[in-house]
Amino acid sequence: MNRRDALKLSAVGTTSLLLTQHPMANMLNLGPLTLREAFGRDFKFGVATAAYQIEGAWNLDGKGPSIWDTFSHKKGKILNGDNGDVSCDFYHNFSQDLALLQSMNMDVFRFSTAWSRIMPEGQGPLNIKGIDFYHRVIDRCLALSIEPWLTCYHWDLPQALQDEGGWFNRDSIAWFSDFVEVLAKYYGDKVKHWMVFNEPMAFTGLGYMSGGHAPGIRSFKQFKAAVHHVTVAQGEGGRILKELLPDAIVGTTFSCTAVEPKSNAPRHQKAAKKADALFNRLFIEPAMGMGYPTEDLSMIQGIERWVKDGDMERATFDFDFIGLQNYFRSVARFSFWPPVFWANLVKANKLTKEENITEMGWEVSPEGMYHVLKQFGEYGKRIIVTENGAAFEDHVEGNFVHDSRRLDFYKQYIGQVLRAKREGIPIDGYFAWTFLDNFEWAEGYHPRFGIVHVDFENQERLIKDSGLWFKEQLR
Ligand code: FCB
Repeated sequence: MNRRDALKLSAVGTTSLLLTQHPMANMLNLGPLTLREAFGRDFKFGVATAAYQIEGAWNLDGKGPSIWDTFSHKKGKILNGDNGDVSCDFYHNFSQDLALLQSMNMDVFRFSTAWSRIMPEGQGPLNIKGIDFYHRVIDRCLALSIEPWLTCYHWDLPQALQDEGGWFNRDSIAWFSDFVEVLAKYYGDKVKHWMVFNEPMAFTGLGYMSGGHAPGIRSFKQFKAAVHHVTVAQGEGGRILKELLPDAIVGTTFSCTAVEPKSNAPRHQKAAKKADALFNRLFIEPAMGMGYPTEDLSMIQGIERWVKDGDMERATFDFDFIGLQNYFRSVARFSFWPPVFWANLVKANKLTKEENITEMGWEVSPEGMYHVLKQFGEYGKRIIVTENGAAFEDHVEGNFVHDSRRLDFYKQYIGQVLRAKREGIPIDGYFAWTFLDNFEWAEGYHPRFGIVHVDFENQERLIKDSGLWFKEQLR
């Protein structure tokens, strides 16, 4: 099951929300204001990226292989047999790319560090050329007055660590802690904003339960162990950064989705509660000192087996902000047995309205963004929308890429962010996913998410209409 199947959970019987509203009804209405003026000068706009998706240079300058190198080189794992060996070749193009980003008036470049570029074996000796690469990226950002926001881990575990079990192995907590310490030591005097993980639910669920992502494991046992080790590592990572860099602003990011029951029948409502616990609460609540949502999520019962004394205290950390990443809403329906419940969520994705579905099969649901912002607002943390965006087919015409559906998507979703902010949810930033068209994991190069078009034949970049809109709005 790949992510196309596993995470396109939406759209059954498109609810009353969509039926009663014209699709454009919640479009951003700024009046005479620009985005900049409507959100205020302190609000940060930026783009989010991930190392494996853009860098290429998979085996250059001493980099060790990651689980994504291994996985994407296996037959049948990635759509069209694609891999990230070259991708946007950001490794060689970063200087021009960041200048392009600056020309679009963006405040923030969110990026991640490839662990195996810095520590080829995942632990032990450092690769100085890898360390230097991120210094050059960060220095370039600073020279262009772009804030570098660093994600410590965006899914590309060193293969050498996977050979020892990866996140299934409890030692992963220590491996990751050492890696975070290296990052803090080398980049801490330049980088002020840090995110420990990118979407722990996605990389544990897809990597260890459904197997659609690297390392491609399908095991409830491994999933539960991985969840626990990542949860402890999440708290430890935060603490290490704060201890070594007391002035740093430290967060972590979560995937989230507004969950609705298929109908009001109590069994579907129960399923929705379960799905909400799995997709929205599993990783934030232990960080908040609330423990696992075991009561609402029977499938993780038994996780205690992996919990040692003091673990839940180590998992707790007072993050300065949480990063929310939202793309679609989910519709849940009852099933008796956990794997069937998971499969049902997949089946629930009966596409009812083609015009409302992105190239990922994800439903466009701006209201869903509003609902998750309200829901996560309850935790009392400051919030950054660290990812949001859409893949649509693009039409290149000469020097223009007319991506009107993506532009509409941004206007609708940002409209809902503004609505939540105006209602008092403490939202401090919004980062578009993503800067450049790139390697979209199991979907390869097929879905294009960029606000900048990339011609993968010749590495040419072309700002799309959506990118030009941001540029104009952020002037
Ligand atoms: C998010 C991932 C990001 C990208 C977008 C489309 O879940 O964090 O890397 O794949 O989805």
